[in-house]
Amino acid sequence: MTTHIGANKGDIAETVLMPGDPLRAKWAAETFLEAPRLVNEVRGMLGYTGTYKGNPVTIHGSGMGMPSLSIYANELIRDFGAKSLIRIGSCGGMQPHVKIRDVIIAMSATSLNTPSMGLFKEVNFAPTADYSLLRAAVAAAEAMGAKPHVGGIYSSDVFYDERPDLTEQMTRHGILGVEMEAAELYTVAARFGARALAVLTVSDHLQTGEALPSKDREQSFGEMVEIALKAAFPG
Ligand code: HPA
Repeated sequence: MTTHIGANKGDIAETVLMPGDPLRAKWAAETFLEAPRLVNEVRGMLGYTGTYKGNPVTIHGSGMGMPSLSIYANELIRDFGAKSLIRIGSCGGMQPHVKIRDVIIAMSATSLNTPSMGLFKEVNFAPTADYSLLRAAVAAAEAMGAKPHVGGIYSSDVFYDERPDLTEQMTRHGILGVEMEAAELYTVAARFGARALAVLTVSDHLQTGEALPSKDREQSFGEMVEIALKAAFPG
């Protein structure tokens, strides 16, 4: 047991999928895992462990934003021995060719700040996905008929952004989408020698103002769970 995770050692699998929303963790575990069981409910942040094709998997909420994700990623890796962490979540599209419902696989995550930034002092660390997971996720998405966008994303500290000039610079520099967690996940994973990846669906678009209807969200979410599970256990 740790401060924020009420599981016993051995209750958490080496492979962890991390949606932002704890109820999504419950839905994904009940839909995609065999024999899912609740392993954490501290502060309502639900975590489930079951198996996928016989392989142990935990699906655990991260909460919204990097400070929340950071707490869970630190404890999952450091205290429970998680080795591969895949964020599954939504993002806002930032390029005209990136459409609603498209899948983005994040190679890198730019940010203004992360909870880890204090460690680096003057160094501008580049949070980067694990290549083996990234490659396997791209292959899995393509095999499912998706055409994933692979590239840089922006991990923002705010959903209600008051800096249109920053959005403009991100777009100008080819950033595919904006979300609020990946940069810290990649950084914490790197610190402890774990693998990390973010697989995202475009749920809204910053340029067109379009948004994914709620009935489509579950289907897009399910697709990401499948991509993440296939990436974690290729072949
Ligand atoms: N901004 C930040 N995070 C997000 C967005 C957004 O537009 N859409 C989904 N997650």
